[in-house]
Amino acid sequence: MTLVNELESLVPDLAKGLDQASSLEVLEELRIDFLGRKGRLAQIMGRLPELAPEERPVVGKTANAVKESLNNLFDQRKAALEDAREAEKLSRFDPSMPGRMPKVGSLHPVTQVMDEICQVFKGLGYDIVTGPEVENDYHNFEALNMPPEHPARDMQDTLYVTENILLRTHTSPLQVRTMKERKPPVAAIAPGKVYRRDSDLTHTPMFHQIEGFMVDRNVSMADLRGTLTSFLQQVFGKNTKVRFRPSFFPFTEPSAEVDISCCICGGEGYKDGAPCRVCKTTGWVEILGCGMIDPEVFKSVGYDPEEYSGFAFGLGVERVTMLKYGIGDLRMFFENDVRFLRQFA
Ligand code: DAH
Repeated sequence: MTLVNELESLVPDLAKGLDQASSLEVLEELRIDFLGRKGRLAQIMGRLPELAPEERPVVGKTANAVKESLNNLFDQRKAALEDAREAEKLSRFDPSMPGRMPKVGSLHPVTQVMDEICQVFKGLGYDIVTGPEVENDYHNFEALNMPPEHPARDMQDTLYVTENILLRTHTSPLQVRTMKERKPPVAAIAPGKVYRRDSDLTHTPMFHQIEGFMVDRNVSMADLRGTLTSFLQQVFGKNTKVRFRPSFFPFTEPSAEVDISCCICGGEGYKDGAPCRVCKTTGWVEILGCGMIDPEVFKSVGYDPEEYSGFAFGLGVERVTMLKYGIGDLRMFFENDVRFLRQFA
């Protein structure tokens, strides 16, 4: 067989090989076998010196034509295999499958209720004020008419940083800070975190409070009652009943605790025939503390108690949230179980 014949037979040989090549990897092996540096074409050409010089141009020309044919065959087959591979990938992709939805977070229920309460008081014309969680003795106790020997300053309750610096035990210091900064009339609420050395089923070392107060000429207990009743009915529903019980706080005189009709049993004391576990059948739940700002507090902040009067109140946001949504366990708020939190999205 002449070299020309040998060269020309490479084309059908390759075509047969390519027909059987089932993958791009096999294709590459074939390419090396036929067109590689030591492949079949190269080997045949290596024998060119055996020929008489006048025979060589014909063989050379054939070799070029064969090489081009071989390359064309490869390219065609390669494109076909690539198409097939792509089609196979697509066949495993189901465009009708539902997508994976990105998870969207939501505000914590305590944050939501805090925002809601702030909105209600904004509607009543109150400003929102904030202050430091690391407080000093003066703002947390002394200016609020709690002298050094007062039981509320007991080490049991307060987390001290130094003898004089502490984590605020309530948001009431904002009364002092705000009144020292502004002249009456002033109406403000102060939402925020407070800290106590207390931890059991119904107490956490950190929780949230909202403090509110207003000072002007001729502010009376009637204003206090009207404001708090309106606020509580906006948060718990317009049929909510509100009652005031006498109480004591060092920074208010007189002081009261406020109960609302139980929002779980509607004040009936029983729900679905069973004793209501939230109000313990009394039909009432305690919701906040309040009172007329004590003249001693006005003296601390430089207001004249003969000219001005005012009221103040403070409430626990976790407690309001539990009552509003019928949540029985305080720990739910701090465990961050998404199954719990998602219900408030
Ligand atoms: N500061 C009180 C506490 O943490 C709550 C409180 C009660 C605030 C009566 C007030 C108030 O402003 O008038 O227990």
